[in-house]
Amino acid sequence: MSDDLAALFLRHVCQTSAAPLGIEVARAAGSTVWDGRGRAYLDLLAGMGVANVGHTHPEVVAAVRAQAERHLHVMVYGEFVQEAQVRLATRLAGLLAPPLAVVYFTSSGAEAIEGALKTARKHTRRRRIVAFEGGFHGDTLGALSIGGNPVYRAPFEPLLPDVKFLPFDDVAALAAIDAHTAAVVVEPVQAEAGVRRTSTGAWCRTCSCSRRRSAAGSRWAPSSAARRSWRRSATTRRSRT
Ligand SMILES: Cc1ncc(COP(=O)(O)O)c(C=O)c1O
Repeated sequence: MSDDLAALFLRHVCQTSAAPLGIEVARAAGSTVWDGRGRAYLDLLAGMGVANVGHTHPEVVAAVRAQAERHLHVMVYGEFVQEAQVRLATRLAGLLAPPLAVVYFTSSGAEAIEGALKTARKHTRRRRIVAFEGGFHGDTLGALSIGGNPVYRAPFEPLLPDVKFLPFDDVAALAAIDAHTAAVVVEPVQAEAGVRRTSTGAWCRTCSCSRRRSAAGSRWAPSSAARRSWRRSATTRRSRT
């Protein structure tokens, strides 16, 4: 068998892009990644935020080593008291506004979205999820269902029913958030859609206010505040499986 890593990569690792960068990562430190031939690259991705204090940061390496020496993964669904998990949950809970005080650990953004959708449906006993055109929330079926790019959704339809898409940054459209709404899922700065931000903070504030009113069971009446629609950006920078 060939030991050509690039060839093995193309042959055995599921390809998610028609034109992968194919950089053979040999090692990394801080914001620099080196390939097998010693070429250095400035890493602007940071492992999708995983390495946001830099690669091989000595404190991170020491913490990972200490944990691996103590015990590895034992159980993710609660049941066992694992010191590192409990301490992180406690710190995160300290950042949340009361009464939020509980952390559900997942290993990806899409899983976090799945957990949020299920929590909202179970808690409210409602079905409708409101999401926004252009938003991206992950590749699992639930997360895809609320993704605002039809290109990603189309190959996997039918997806979850009762998802309502509203235009991003349109205050008047938020009137659709009503007493049937279980959850409103927002990507406040839409990355996949081309780094789209709202024109003012008013939209985000109104969005969260509408959600609170819908939770209270009343219908929100639109104000005459700014009504501006974004030009649709059809930017699709990466293909998805
Ligand atoms: C805004 C947003 N939400 C959710 C996700 C999904 O995260 P993951 O790829 O870890 O499942 C992404 C990933 O790009 C994202 O950009």
